[in-house]
Amino acid sequence: MVREIESVAVLGCGTMGAGIAAASAAAGCRVLMLDLTTEAAEQAAAQIDDEARHLVTTGSLADDLPAIADYDWICEAIVEDLATKRQLFERVEPLRADGSVVSSNTSGIPLAAISEGFSERFRSDVAITHFFNPVRVMKLFELVPGVETSPEVIDAFARFGAGRLGKGVVHAKDTVNFIGNRIGCFFMLSGLHRAKPYLANGMTQETVDAVLGQPIGLPPTGLYGLIDLIGLDVMDLVGKNLAENLPADDVGRAFTSFPEVEQRMLERGQLGRKAGGGFGRVQRNDDGSKTRETFDLGTEEWRAAVAPDLEGAPSADLGALLFDESPAGKLAWDVFGSTLCYAADLVPQIADGPLNVDNAIRWGFNWVKGPFEMLDHLGPARVIERLEAEGAPVPAMLATLRDAGAETFYRDGQVLGPDGSWHPIG
Ligand SMILES: NC(=O)c1ccc[n+]([C@@H]2O[C@H](COP(=O)([O-])OP(=O)(O)OC[C@H]3O[C@@H](n4cnc5c(N)ncnc54)[C@H](O)[C@@H]3O)[C@@H](O)[C@H]2O)c1
Repeated sequence: MVREIESVAVLGCGTMGAGIAAASAAAGCRVLMLDLTTEAAEQAAAQIDDEARHLVTTGSLADDLPAIADYDWICEAIVEDLATKRQLFERVEPLRADGSVVSSNTSGIPLAAISEGFSERFRSDVAITHFFNPVRVMKLFELVPGVETSPEVIDAFARFGAGRLGKGVVHAKDTVNFIGNRIGCFFMLSGLHRAKPYLANGMTQETVDAVLGQPIGLPPTGLYGLIDLIGLDVMDLVGKNLAENLPADDVGRAFTSFPEVEQRMLERGQLGRKAGGGFGRVQRNDDGSKTRETFDLGTEEWRAAVAPDLEGAPSADLGALLFDESPAGKLAWDVFGSTLCYAADLVPQIADGPLNVDNAIRWGFNWVKGPFEMLDHLGPARVIERLEAEGAPVPAMLATLRDAGAETFYRDGQVLGPDGSWHPIG
């Protein structure tokens, strides 16, 4: 059966639900917004453009759930808690119409855990539709089928995500944190640990952020600035989810907890921008001027921010810093190089090939090049040579490339698959 999505019932109208509802209404869909109370749903609906407001109906999850019978897509976006999501789906299942499709916007709970024990109809009609925040701005839309999700359901979500919402659809597998957050959070969590010896040797946090930004094609927030944006509390939840669900031999297991100083920051609520300060903060002075301050991870005290020191580091070519012998170059290799290798080791575990990984990271984390595109830019043979010289394992996809006699992951409209053969793009 071909499924068409023309209307959306959004359950849970917080940050993400409100964003999904607004994007769907802006695309001309009828939208039902339900939250714990009608007032909360109405408040969320106030963010919707005036022109689209007439398409939206609001209500409460307690009283108005039967109205979902009249909607094509039932999109769950309530709190990130498995039991609460399952309880809601138990109420949803008898009420929704045959032919409707269902999804969870979970950040990382496996679909297998959400759908376990549910009816065959539910298991074939459900997927994970993972939007990024803010929904209107971020292009990435990860689409994750369960083992039994029907291809027509995935096709309907993909057509709606790309065609109606204008998103970049990435097909991911049902593995912990999917693609974008699996790799992006590895960069951040491992970075907190791997930066420590450089800080101990006198590198400033400002320099760490500058190294892990523009020279390697990442946004200027670098490491600490990015975590300040996301919040240490969110990163802590991500770490806990990883600790629970990562495969036993995953190298990310070493980084699921914060270093001691960052743990103390979390415990006293020094979470980032939303809490008025994390690794950095802006102080307003009496004369109206502003002073940027950095929380020094060595002294655990605030100090005035300083300019980063990248003197002498190669900057002409993207990524050249990775092969530089300076402390900045070594930091870039330790944190970013290891993230590239982590990504290259996760295919086919989390994605069917390099393209979905690159799209997820470019669209979800705003890297100039995705991990495989960056490896192509650096030269995979050069990376393999360095790993071998260091006695480090060669990641799965780099080994596949070497064994296939290929020089890059992309060539002439084709991409190298985990089977070692070339596949057309698009
Ligand atoms: N915020 C993000 O950056 C982000 C990104 C991607 C995915 N997600 C995921 O999207 C989902 C929603 O996240 P959010 O950031 O919008 O959260 P939020 O806290 O902003 O909103 C959660 C909503 O759920 C409702 N709610 C709370 N308890 C409930 C309960 N017991 N039953 C039903 N509804 C309840 C709240 O009223 C609220 O409207 C989560 O699964 C989260 O992991 C969040």
